[in-house]
Amino acid sequence: MSNLAFLGGRPVVEKADESLFHWPIVNDAMRKAQAEVLETGNMSGTDIARRFEAAFASWQKRKYALSHNNGTSALNAAMHAIGLGPGDEMICTSLTYWASCTGALALGAGVVFCDIDPNTLQMDPASFEARITPRTKAVMVVHYMAHPAPMDEIMSIARRHGIKVIEDVSHAQGGHYKGRMLGTFGDVAAMSLMSCKSFAIGEGGMLVTDDAEIYRRAIRFGHYDRIADVFSEEEMEATKNVPFGGLKNRMHQVSAAIGLEQLKKHDAEIAEIDRAMKYFWKGVEDVPGIRVIYPRDEGSDKAGWYASRFIYDSRAFCGVSNVTFCDALNAECGGGFSFGCNMPLHLSSVFFDVDVYGHGRPTATAFMPEGTDLRKEHGLLPAAEAANSRTLGEPWFKHDDHARIDPYIEAFRKVAANAAELLPVNDTEPVLGGVALSRRKK
Ligand SMILES: Cc1ncc(COP(=O)(O)O)c(C=O)c1O
Repeated sequence: MSNLAFLGGRPVVEKADESLFHWPIVNDAMRKAQAEVLETGNMSGTDIARRFEAAFASWQKRKYALSHNNGTSALNAAMHAIGLGPGDEMICTSLTYWASCTGALALGAGVVFCDIDPNTLQMDPASFEARITPRTKAVMVVHYMAHPAPMDEIMSIARRHGIKVIEDVSHAQGGHYKGRMLGTFGDVAAMSLMSCKSFAIGEGGMLVTDDAEIYRRAIRFGHYDRIADVFSEEEMEATKNVPFGGLKNRMHQVSAAIGLEQLKKHDAEIAEIDRAMKYFWKGVEDVPGIRVIYPRDEGSDKAGWYASRFIYDSRAFCGVSNVTFCDALNAECGGGFSFGCNMPLHLSSVFFDVDVYGHGRPTATAFMPEGTDLRKEHGLLPAAEAANSRTLGEPWFKHDDHARIDPYIEAFRKVAANAAELLPVNDTEPVLGGVALSRRKK
């Protein structure tokens, strides 16, 4: 019988160590803060949200922060606020969560997908530049899976072509690129603060900018009770306080109260995660065929390590797929490893063919000249398409406790050393969006 737990052998860890992964870390101050909001019935106000925004803006080193009920709303408001509208194109990497770009369709704009750098999984600047057309209004830059996107190249291309830059910082709050905080490069940044993210306050999102007009437009889009704060009576004379987007994007104040407390400990928590993750990597990095994705530039980091992925080369493991390797790892230690990334969005017809709003033609091109084909890039995003089959996710350690991390290192080394034994059970079906297609069929 094989030594590997996946094949009936004895696992390295009998029971998963949940406390090593539990997230978010809740303290008494958070418990008290959220109870106070409930007990005073102040869930739908804006006083706590405004205090949270002020503290967040100062932490984020931006003039303005505007809280939202989730990251999707914050991103959609950012797209409207920079002026994305009918007939415009927004360039975005295909390998991201749909909320990074789908909101463009509701504004009458189309999304053009570009490819990623296969080594970092971040936007490939050359692929971005190659897709610029006279219709390109904006680029959505996602700091994907905690890693900073190459902002020097992206900003220089965008400025040269007069393109607005929106950063999606949902995966990398508190992260840095060459010494500067993510979310401070573009015209505006927006992010999710939902409970699985590294800045986790429950459902919630934040928009940050230095641009007063972007801030005002984001308020007018979905914050009816704050329009009078930033627009004069004359400006509001005809429109009153009706939000232009017809949306109510206000943050739940329990989330805001938790956020105020999270800000006090966030930097310390992600610093500990960073130490823990680096300890794990020190223990496995010499294994041939795997590579941590960590920024090489001075002053860049992977703050929070949210959903971190590493490169897995199956050729170094006798052809064993990332899915099978992942199963074998989890069998050794009760879970924590994952495979694949997001589904590449250019594989969804929503961005090309679907008539969402009944225009009688595809929504994505409803305001573009007849015959416009945004699908022209389809099939030409090889790195995005390959990413799901060549990546694995390492466990997300929240505590720098070496004795408790060591078994995961041991499990990794054991599976790597015995990978050949997995060949008879190897699952070689392609992977999409973190799902092995063979399993989805079952
Ligand atoms: C990259 C990215 N952008 C945006 C969002 C949307 O944020 P929310 O779920 O808070 O609406 C998510 C996921 O949650 C995400 O992963």
